[in-house]
Amino acid sequence: YTVSFDAKDMEKGTYPHYMIKEIDEQPAVIRRLLQNYTGKDGKLATDTAIAEALNAADRLYIVACGTSYHAGLVGKHLLEKIAGIPTEVHISSEFSYNMPLLSKKPLFIFISQSGETADSRAVLVKVKKLGYPTLTMTNVEGSTLYREADYKMLLYAGPEIAVASTKAYTAMIAVFSVMAATLATAKGLTLGFDPVHEMSLAALAMEQMIDEKAQLQEIARDYLSITRNAFYIGRGLDYYVCMEAALKLKEVSYIQAEGFAGGELKHGTIALIEDGTPVLAFATQEAVNDHIRGNVQEVAARGAHTCVISMKDVTDRPGDSIILPKVHEYFTPLVCAVPLQLIAYYAALQNECDVDKPRNLAKSVTVE
Ligand code: G6P
Repeated sequence: YTVSFDAKDMEKGTYPHYMIKEIDEQPAVIRRLLQNYTGKDGKLATDTAIAEALNAADRLYIVACGTSYHAGLVGKHLLEKIAGIPTEVHISSEFSYNMPLLSKKPLFIFISQSGETADSRAVLVKVKKLGYPTLTMTNVEGSTLYREADYKMLLYAGPEIAVASTKAYTAMIAVFSVMAATLATAKGLTLGFDPVHEMSLAALAMEQMIDEKAQLQEIARDYLSITRNAFYIGRGLDYYVCMEAALKLKEVSYIQAEGFAGGELKHGTIALIEDGTPVLAFATQEAVNDHIRGNVQEVAARGAHTCVISMKDVTDRPGDSIILPKVHEYFTPLVCAVPLQLIAYYAALQNECDVDKPRNLAKSVTVE
């Protein structure tokens, strides 16, 4: 097979690290991806065979690891809400021996930036043997998971060199949006919004957040410079974003971090809150805004150093630390990704960590 990456894509140019270069590339990645998945009629589409396979399934099973698993959680939300198809998300390494009861007509979706993750491949091999249809969503054309699946969807993110995944994560979410829109159309559902337009607005909003580097560096300094631990809290889609925010922070800055569902905090984890514990809350979802703010108050009353990240004209309130530009409620994770990644990046720099090559981690894990 041939790899269609340009050599200059592999260079850092004037950037000090690949991670920051790749964070900056995200709006362009979303735009390129939209172009690649737009048909002649101006509508988002996968190829017909994929649309048919998705439409024939009665349930989707997403299988992935790490950041890709977190993108899968957002994908589930989009597929269920936009296309009305029941969707489950599973961690690859658990799936093999902890297999759920399957529906009559399942379709398996493997998400993998590298397309080489052994844990995911083990599941692919297993479900293929059982005769189920498989689809791989990957950044690497010709990779093992790409070659071995029945259907393939590319991320078009360009080479991702930093070990901690950034642009592949947002590209995965964007591809799920394409998948959900295509399936909804195939099922004859009315979307009620124009996905290309809304995702273009999200790309613009990501660009605006990329321009807020100085502010995000300050947040990293104020909240994360003298701490060993930190919490991210959110509800709904924001909860999934929090899981990725915590993973990114752990990976590159070695600060112990957890992403929690806001309502679950009081069932145990709140015991860990003491004077000065950083708690960063994503509050972009209108339906749960009061609830997440209640959680912020609960931890603030116990001494937490709280930071609220909200969305302009939808959930923002005076005193919020970061206000994201307004986007459609389905596409908030694309915009939230930028601050969560930049906060992790700056936290890593201030802890003098090797951001592009964190200790003990590998870009693609080819052992189970
Ligand atoms: C490794 C990387 C993570 C990545 C995970 C899944 O652990 O360090 O950043 O999210 O593998 O990788 P994949 O290539 O399958 O998306």
